[in-house]
Amino acid sequence: TTIYLKDYTPFGYLVDSVHLTFDLDAHATRVTSRIAFRPNPDATDRTFFLHGEELKLIRAAIDGAEITPDVTDKGLTADVPDAPFLWESEVEIDPGNNTALEGLYMSNGMYCTQCEAEGFRKITFYPDRPDVMSTFTVRINGDLPVLLSNGNPSGKGEGWAEWVDPWPKPAYLFALVAGDLIAHPGQFTTKSGRNVDLNLWVRPGDEGKCAFGMEALKKSMKWDEGVYGREYDLDVFNIVAVDDFNMGAMENKGLNIFNSSAVLASPETSTDANFERIEAIIAHEYFHNWTGNRITCRDWFQLCLKEGLTVFRDAQFTSDMRSAPVKRIHDAIDLRARQFPEDNGPLSHPVRPESFQEINNFYTATVYEKGAEVIGMLKRLVGDAAYAKALDLYFERHDGQACTIEDWLKVFEDTTGRDLTQFKRWYSQSGTPRVRVQEDWADGTYTLTLKQRTDPTPGQEAKLPQVIPVAVGLLGPNGDEVRATEVLELTQAEQSFAFTGLAAKPTASILRDFSAPVILEHDQSNAERAFLLAHDTDPFNRWQAGRDLAQDTLMRMILQDAAPDTDYLDGLLTVLRNDELDPAYRALMLGLPTQSELAAALHDRGHTPDPMAIWAAVETLRQATAQTVQDLLPRLHSEALVDGPYSPDAEQSGKRALGSAALALTSRLDGGAMAAEAYDKANNMTLQLTALSCLLRARKGEAQLDAFYEQWQHDRLVMDKWFGLQVAMAAPEATPAIAATLTEHADFNWKNPNRFRAVVGALAMNHAGFHQPDGAGYALLADWLIRLDPVNPQTTARMCSAFQTWKRYDPDRQALTRAQLSRIAETPNLSRDTTEMVSRILGA
Ligand code: ARG
Ligand code: ZN
Repeated sequence: TTIYLKDYTPFGYLVDSVHLTFDLDAHATRVTSRIAFRPNPDATDRTFFLHGEELKLIRAAIDGAEITPDVTDKGLTADVPDAPFLWESEVEIDPGNNTALEGLYMSNGMYCTQCEAEGFRKITFYPDRPDVMSTFTVRINGDLPVLLSNGNPSGKGEGWAEWVDPWPKPAYLFALVAGDLIAHPGQFTTKSGRNVDLNLWVRPGDEGKCAFGMEALKKSMKWDEGVYGREYDLDVFNIVAVDDFNMGAMENKGLNIFNSSAVLASPETSTDANFERIEAIIAHEYFHNWTGNRITCRDWFQLCLKEGLTVFRDAQFTSDMRSAPVKRIHDAIDLRARQFPEDNGPLSHPVRPESFQEINNFYTATVYEKGAEVIGMLKRLVGDAAYAKALDLYFERHDGQACTIEDWLKVFEDTTGRDLTQFKRWYSQSGTPRVRVQEDWADGTYTLTLKQRTDPTPGQEAKLPQVIPVAVGLLGPNGDEVRATEVLELTQAEQSFAFTGLAAKPTASILRDFSAPVILEHDQSNAERAFLLAHDTDPFNRWQAGRDLAQDTLMRMILQDAAPDTDYLDGLLTVLRNDELDPAYRALMLGLPTQSELAAALHDRGHTPDPMAIWAAVETLRQATAQTVQDLLPRLHSEALVDGPYSPDAEQSGKRALGSAALALTSRLDGGAMAAEAYDKANNMTLQLTALSCLLRARKGEAQLDAFYEQWQHDRLVMDKWFGLQVAMAAPEATPAIAATLTEHADFNWKNPNRFRAVVGALAMNHAGFHQPDGAGYALLADWLIRLDPVNPQTTARMCSAFQTWKRYDPDRQALTRAQLSRIAETPNLSRDTTEMVSRILGA
């Protein structure tokens, strides 16, 4: 069944309070609920339906009188008074056999929950929808030392604990944790003087990996006070690390639950990239306390209301903590790698979808990352001061409410007077807009003509013009900026912008700072790109110029068997020699478009991408790069060996990124000799893993791989890296076999999402390996998806997206993919999650 946004109606009852009692037992947990309902004056439909799935109903009562409700596998209905009443129920659930990791489940002997989006209905009967908000009181009975729930602690004794959450919340923010856990404590005093006890709860053995996460939490709390004026609102803030978790983390009120990979960190076991990601996720979940919890979503179609905004906020935080240009470049790389393929394929959907079968399938790059880009555009259009004013109004007007995108846009309209009707298309229209650039120069006037179009996407044939902020600056012939950045508002299908009074034809730097999530089609010459690479004052576009040069040469290498382009190689050499450029930025300059991006670019231009030809071109270009910059490599590599103690900060990690990139190039020239040395010397995980990956790519490193295993086999998160790296670095022809062999390894626990993703996810990410012409990659992925589906539908469905680009490829590969997709689709009892994904991907 499909659910539609247009069908929204409020629930017939309001909830005044919820009291829950949990009697924990691995296979027979009892959940007793006492819920105060009253008729909702704003609703007309008085059907009393409570969601409930996989629950054994023991008893139900209304105002103390036992009743026998009608129960189906989706929930129950009952006759209730037309006046306030007390609902009571007692159910039994089996957390020990809950492998879907949704609702109450067990991970390594610890009880934990994941309720977003619709997991609470697997805990007790309830109107499990985000617009039903209530305060919660929770009593936990269980013989485990640590018993946690949302809100503030209100009492505890031997074998029990009680929690009160005074802030009304939807059920998806409910959480419970019980286990043998150790606290890493911290303290934070809010600006109005509230003392908050912070705790990061981990399993014994992980105590040494908490310090960084705790500091990130404190920084986040401080930042949200300073930048958004948002203070924390409870006496405690708890974070729990869990090994078995479908996603990154969850913002449950006062009790955030994290995939251990998204919170546990130490220099010995985590890479710089891990540290940066952890800092961002801690911030993200913390920021949800206001954007998500205090102000929540009316229904799940509004998911981007909290996710787009919270991603935008965490990106601002990372920019402030680290380097803003580097963060912006990372985000553009990520958007192009994950969101563009989604937006331009069979899974394309608007930032605010209008229908779904399974909401878990819509926790996507489009809702999250494009949703954040939409907010970035809005801020760019109205300006920083107006944005701040609008946000103040949003918090003031909507605190305690469950809201919509209309509410969100209205605060901007009310504070700025701007009509956002057209802008709202960003929420309703799917597909990535393309902006074509045409330049004219005459009599001192430079005219930029921009044409926008968006290709049809599933369910949306015709597209209307969107409001696209295009940040533009102009450079004069000497590389000086003759026009500072200006935001052009492209609102028509085609629009011209004139810059007058120029002494000479300028070079345009268009879409500075990646001012809109669009594909820019600009036929610039390589000379112009090289000029921008040397002179652009906008760091994003300077990087982009290098990227364009790289893409251009790769395309010609693939299509015309051309040799690597000297504009690109020389430009890179100049950049690498420039010690004034931030090492992190220089490392980014050394990056190339992903092979999947190249496949998309070829497809866009009417060619059928050949994954092996793409792979070969990238290898050739890397080899040529290594030769060109050879003399610089030893010095660049030594950047990685920073003095003093390890710090994951932007400065040190930037140096290591550059040093690592240099080591990778060196390994192409010396067969891995320097990497072997670097491996032995490595004193942190960043350097150790870089060295190991260089060795594996040089088809060496057998001994180091074994040594790594011996050293780290006790550490799950590091072992995920060991598994993943072997698949990521495998030669294309060997990839499916290597992945298959790893799935037979004794430590391959396929029911753990992190481990499953480490191998099977890495297979799907290894472009040439996954797309092997015999279809072995497709078959292996399908085998594992079929196997995992009955155990964990969410993770299975998510990984189906590896097939979303299948129509780009040649007829043989399409036939092979179609066969695997059909095989999955025909699997008996396939989950709703996977059924929806596969049918959308097939275009059925
Ligand atoms: N709200 C969480 C976050 O953005 C993600 C939870 C998603 N969970 C899910 N089962 N879809 O941090
Ligand atoms: Zn979120």
